[in-house]
Amino acid sequence: MLSNSGYGTRSDVTKAIRKGKVTVNGVVVKDNGFHVTEDDDIIFDGESAVSKSHLYFMMDKPDGVLTAMEDKRLPTIADFIPANLKNLKLSPVGRLDYHTTGLLIITNDGDLSHRLTSPKYEVPKNYLVTYSGNELGQTQIDEAASGMTLTDMDKPIKLAPAKLELLPNNQAILTLYEGKTHEVRRMISSWGCEVVELRRISIGEVSLPENSEPGSLIELSENQIHSLKAATGL
Ligand code: URA
Repeated sequence: MLSNSGYGTRSDVTKAIRKGKVTVNGVVVKDNGFHVTEDDDIIFDGESAVSKSHLYFMMDKPDGVLTAMEDKRLPTIADFIPANLKNLKLSPVGRLDYHTTGLLIITNDGDLSHRLTSPKYEVPKNYLVTYSGNELGQTQIDEAASGMTLTDMDKPIKLAPAKLELLPNNQAILTLYEGKTHEVRRMISSWGCEVVELRRISIGEVSLPENSEPGSLIELSENQIHSLKAATGL
């Protein structure tokens, strides 16, 4: 239960149990095969341990990293996941491009993951875009809002309505309710501009903390998990 709930690798928690660092209902337990249920009061290294079937994290994805759990050549987000959380079937919710930074949710809750990426639930994803080229204006705000059609590939693609908010210094916040491939970059280039930097700053009500470090992995709070579930009808 401890290793499946993210408290360490099997060998870490076995060592801790053998050292007497785990109590169940107030009694030290030194047998790592001791059976527990959800009703048991488990203290691990002085802190209450809860059985979690699903784990939820946010990562500040660094630049130059693939949104994948393995790759033969390139660095991946798995390089930033500590050993004690490996083997828990964690995977990223949706993808950010190699050069996009910012908020990535990482979980082993397949239902939530599916819903957060499905356009059906219209969970807003906010991107801070720094672009080069002519300044965007009202025409682009209106086009984004009415659901534009991209014609940069073989077949035209109709996009869901999006919100474009202009900021000074060639920056903008683009809010998307779906996640088509390279959607932000393609919208920006359809306006004759180019993305210089792209950073996802929030998904639903979940944002990265202001001082987050690239590559950092932070467990979501109960409130954040609840808000994402509520946004997707779970
Ligand atoms: N849109 C893009 O173009 N790239 C991303 O990484 C995310 C959204």
